[in-house]
Amino acid sequence: MGQILLISLKTDTNNDLSITIKGGRNMSSSSIVLHHFLFLLLIVCHLTSVSSWKKDEFRNCNQTPFCKRARSRKPQHCKLIATDVRIEDGELTAKLMNPQENLDENSLIISLSVYQNGILRMKIDEDPVQNPPKKRFQVPDVVLPEFQSKKLWLQRYTKDGDSFSVYLFDGYEAVVKSDSFEVFVREQSSGKRVLSFNSHGLFDFEQLRVKKEGDEWEERFRSHTDSRPYGPQSISFDVSFYGADFVYGIPEHATSLALKPTNGPGIEESEPYRLFNLDVFEYLHESPFGLYGSIPLMLSHGKSHGTSGFFWLNAAEMQIDVLGSGWDAESSILLPDQKRIDTLWMSEAGIVDAFFFIGPKPKDVVKQYASVTGTSAMPQLFATGYHQCRWNYRDEEDVKNVDSKFDEHDIPYDVLWLDIEHTDGKRYFTWDKALFPNPEEMQKDLASRGRRMVTIVDPHIKRDDNYHIHKEASKNGYYVKDATGKDFDGWCWPGSSSYIDMVNPEIRSWWADKFSYTEYVGSTPSLYIWNDMNEPSVFNGPEVTMPRDALHYGNVEHRELHNAYGYYFHMATSEGLVKREGGKDRPFVLSRAFFPGTQRYGTVWTGDNIAEWEHLRVSVPMILTLGLTGITFSGADVGGFFGNPETELLVRWYQVAAYLPFFRGHAHHDTKRREPWLFGEHNTELIRDAIRVRYTFLPYFYTLFREANMTGVPVARPLWMEFPYDEATFNNDEAFMVGNALLVQGVYTRGAKDVTVYLPRDHTWYDLKTGTAYKGGHAQKMEVTDADIPVFQRSGTIIPRKDRFRRSTLQMENDPYTLVIAVDSSGAAEGEVYIDDGKSYEFKQGAYIHRRFIFSDGKLTSVNLAAASSTSSFVSDCTIERIILLGYSSKTKSVRIEPSNHATDVELGPLQIRSGVRSSALTIRKPNVRISDDWTIRLL
Ligand SMILES: *[C@@H]1O[C@H](CO)[C@@H](O)[C@H](O)[C@H]1NC(C)=O
Repeated sequence: MGQILLISLKTDTNNDLSITIKGGRNMSSSSIVLHHFLFLLLIVCHLTSVSSWKKDEFRNCNQTPFCKRARSRKPQHCKLIATDVRIEDGELTAKLMNPQENLDENSLIISLSVYQNGILRMKIDEDPVQNPPKKRFQVPDVVLPEFQSKKLWLQRYTKDGDSFSVYLFDGYEAVVKSDSFEVFVREQSSGKRVLSFNSHGLFDFEQLRVKKEGDEWEERFRSHTDSRPYGPQSISFDVSFYGADFVYGIPEHATSLALKPTNGPGIEESEPYRLFNLDVFEYLHESPFGLYGSIPLMLSHGKSHGTSGFFWLNAAEMQIDVLGSGWDAESSILLPDQKRIDTLWMSEAGIVDAFFFIGPKPKDVVKQYASVTGTSAMPQLFATGYHQCRWNYRDEEDVKNVDSKFDEHDIPYDVLWLDIEHTDGKRYFTWDKALFPNPEEMQKDLASRGRRMVTIVDPHIKRDDNYHIHKEASKNGYYVKDATGKDFDGWCWPGSSSYIDMVNPEIRSWWADKFSYTEYVGSTPSLYIWNDMNEPSVFNGPEVTMPRDALHYGNVEHRELHNAYGYYFHMATSEGLVKREGGKDRPFVLSRAFFPGTQRYGTVWTGDNIAEWEHLRVSVPMILTLGLTGITFSGADVGGFFGNPETELLVRWYQVAAYLPFFRGHAHHDTKRREPWLFGEHNTELIRDAIRVRYTFLPYFYTLFREANMTGVPVARPLWMEFPYDEATFNNDEAFMVGNALLVQGVYTRGAKDVTVYLPRDHTWYDLKTGTAYKGGHAQKMEVTDADIPVFQRSGTIIPRKDRFRRSTLQMENDPYTLVIAVDSSGAAEGEVYIDDGKSYEFKQGAYIHRRFIFSDGKLTSVNLAAASSTSSFVSDCTIERIILLGYSSKTKSVRIEPSNHATDVELGPLQIRSGVRSSALTIRKPNVRISDDWTIRLL
């Protein structure tokens, strides 16, 4: 949710000042202090420009001193040399010092360590022997503990002139050049570079100093003053990606998948990509502006090297420039004659803790990154279905009504959501007793039809002495403190609020306990959680967030960990749901803010988007970017949060979103109702079809979620991840792959009669609806109707589906499968299915079915992929009721099934006919083999 829209002030019968915000939200408080009051008036004055992004509320680079300083530096600014190079504790370490200055003063320590599978980690921090005034913040709780065990113990380096190199990975080495200081990764044999650090000498590290008289350290922005007790402490440097045609990643921005240059000759003055978690009201659909979450991982891809990645683990505000070619034309630095993209990274605080990923394939980089920060949690099956949300479903009656309408209209869905209004005055873990008098019954009623509920729990706690959460938190000192050491008090939905300090593990554990059934009164096992506003959003704070000089546990300044605040909150909530079930079931928690590692705790959505075509379009690259940077389970509000989508836009949105990992309709308080059946029979049918298609593909999605869980490879993938040699895919973000088999082309314009689709080369593509085969390798215009968007199955793949229509995932549990086989030019195809109980952690003990289907030489075989396990098993009696073969030409008349050896029907017939296109497919009806068994089906 964004900020307040319209506010009126009145005095109620208790003589309390009450503030009514458009849409009927009510905040009553007798303790509104003057600055809040003025702030509110300020918002009222701002309302003249409603429904546009409030640019002035946010700092730009020029108003951000560290960013302005870093951007104005010229190449060769860095004068440091690396000395005292040696191997210590299996790492290569050195001192960085300025030879012109008094030698040992202000030196930095650099260390390089090498990990399995092509990962180099580099840290640069102040030298502890010089007793800096404070230890700089190093982000804990993100790097997996088991990553440490993948460290390769370095024994020696090779010295060549002033370069020191160590083995990195099969055919690659890492090099530290001492003068001028530079670090790079290269291929050993060719000397070709992959990634380099400080090749342009833009490295700068502002060391902590003790404040001297005359030091002006305070920073002002609008009405806010940041005391900055430790002065300037920023870090900046350049990173070059060699062989790169494009760079990607560093969410969250509403922008294209391939990142546009932000600085350089001929480039219109642009802001750098900002990474600073903010609650941005009505964000623009094309902007480098930082949104709700931050992942400082950039990937590059190109024809010559392939893919590489650079990740800076740092939770302070970051700004990143992608430099256009020729930006360094005036510098005299000579770099190897290799195509490359240069970038400039700037952060306000922290240390350098950087990871170089050498790839060289796209999936290698995401796997390398996942080995550092973890793969996605395995979601419960229900969470992969359709979610219906609105701010707000008013009361129990409304919930019942919406729920029954889904059944009446035969539309499947799994989860109904309640936004902030369900609480008693925005006190989370409570219910508005008038509107929701029987929350347990309500949830049980939904659960009786296999449906769940999600309620919202935000990190701002109403400062109300009668509210148990506030009482405990203030008594125990669990709140974030302001710069003076008092509980930080900011303005959010409940009015005057304080914020739980989730950085402290003891506080997280306390918070997690709040989700137990006894503490969260009115909750039941079918209730799950939504964390909003966790950037954190503070309505009267600088840039709508917490002041940077606020203090966390361990005397950490908010500026040092700002981007990780929401991550900790998400973590604690997710751990709460795990605790609630005694560690048995998987949690479901949706979060708006995120950070590296978020994928281990739950789901993310792209926040408060707008009901506009361009927002539908940008939702695709935003979700693909999240997948590239580890967070595969993400989605955008279907229909757009703000505003009323025209019907055609809403339908198109459902059609695209049905193929994206997290699928939820959501809308702002002030929008018209937009449940799927409100737009006439025809449109109800179109939306129903879109949602049903999603449900038929759930076995495939679930299998892909397991792949993401095992490897880090995302569910929704940019085309270039699957076709890394097909240049035409590198900056295509209108289409995407679901797994390696489905290509989805969105329709993003009103009244479209056709769309241009690029189908990657060297494959045949089968239209999902008609079975029509298309040769890949060129862009082609294709007709579209309002019925669906173009979706294709790639030749050589097998997709498991469940084609019977049900009300929810739970009701599909025992349904039989359909396998769709699209053969390649050699008549072969492969695919997988993964199945487990859909909710518990038993799969970790081996309670799952994992099969690979291999089709070749007219023979389909099911092979077991599950590891033999004696501790636990999962049984399913589900059978396969249909096998559809696309692109298979033969005179097949019957099939033989082994081992049972019974014959079954084969039918050659039209798959489905659309606009005159005829095509045929071979359908094997009722083979009725069990999904969990070994078998072979021979086509005779
Ligand atoms: C998969 O998901 C489970 C449950 O969320 C998690 O515990 C596990 O670490 C994940 N990764 C792997 C490789 O199983």
